[in-house]
Amino acid sequence: MTIMGQTDYDTERAEAFAGRIAGMLDAGAAAAMLSLGHRLGLFDALAGLARPATSDEIATAADLAERYVREWLAVMVMAGVVEHDAGTRRYRLPPEHAACLTRDAPLGNLAVYAQHIALLGKVEDRTICNFETGGGSVYDDYPCFHQIMAEDSVQTVTAALFDHVLPLAPELHERLEAGIDVLDAGCGRGSALIAMARRYPRSRFVGYDLCADAIAAAARMAGAGGLENLRFETRDLTGYAEPGAWDFVTSFDAIHDQKDPLGLVRGLRASLRPGGVYVMQDIGASADLEANRDFPFATLLYAISTTHCTPVSIGQGGEGLGTMWGWETAERFLREAGFARIERHVLPHDPMNVWFVARA
Ligand SMILES: C[S@@+](CC[C@H](N)C(=O)[O-])C[C@H]1O[C@@H](n2cnc3c(N)ncnc32)[C@H](O)[C@@H]1O
Repeated sequence: MTIMGQTDYDTERAEAFAGRIAGMLDAGAAAAMLSLGHRLGLFDALAGLARPATSDEIATAADLAERYVREWLAVMVMAGVVEHDAGTRRYRLPPEHAACLTRDAPLGNLAVYAQHIALLGKVEDRTICNFETGGGSVYDDYPCFHQIMAEDSVQTVTAALFDHVLPLAPELHERLEAGIDVLDAGCGRGSALIAMARRYPRSRFVGYDLCADAIAAAARMAGAGGLENLRFETRDLTGYAEPGAWDFVTSFDAIHDQKDPLGLVRGLRASLRPGGVYVMQDIGASADLEANRDFPFATLLYAISTTHCTPVSIGQGGEGLGTMWGWETAERFLREAGFARIERHVLPHDPMNVWFVARA
């Protein structure tokens, strides 16, 4: 505020902050364009070129319109993602940058997560309406959600499944080889279940999810793989219980979005056979806002929570725990559901997620 040419605040601090906001605007634009580059296969096309290339050559490699590709390249050059040689007007994606931006990126493909940024914009009108009315959203409000989530969980869950996740419960491998009944609750497009069904042909796998489109995609994938030990079913897990049906139950990032998260954890506990194991993965942040200041992607995760996780729970009539419901809440739910032994793990390569192994 300016009063008679004077300010009643620290102008230096205000200017530094304005600079930070300007930086956020630029970085936000770059992040949205990372999503575009991923979806259009532009990073893969750039990485596949043997030498620096013109915008024409890049557009041809990606089978896209050159004028748009050139404009996108300008964004990437300004953002320091792509290199540009002013003399030859050729562009290059350095291999060190391709290492986290392509579909087979050795460091994991961070551009997959950029799609969540694009989604924030796509659902802004719906979100504004939620703020004004206190109402919620339905999954159909998010046209690409299950596709993005599947790409996300292929990297974070399925890729770690056999080397890091299943060994958390050392008895599981032998039991899965011998043949047991396995449920994945809120399976989405089911990539983890498909991988397990392929690896353990003697076991029987079932995936339930609320969304028919996710289940249809999962069933198509399973069908294409010729997997007969795997079944997917569209099912609302509100009030769920199939007493004594399963030896092993999983949920990957699928409890806090529910209408009744504690009710589901109780139902999963009741559905385990004696000696059964429940593996729950969720975001490993804390329920305490202040404790999350250094948590990886905390800003992005709260944003996803504001626009997706909280409203889809409220939209089902739930309380909207949100993405950052916290490992403390998850652990309390497991205790209240009656699990006798509960272990909490954070995998060394993945500080964002928490893994619980709970035994009946
Ligand atoms: C964040 S996604 C995770 C999906 C999947 N587990 C993965 O890792 O890709 C949460 C999933 O929970 C499902 N879900 C939400 N509420 C549900 C309900 N009431 N019954 C069954 N599934 C539900 C959603 O459809 C969504 O697929």
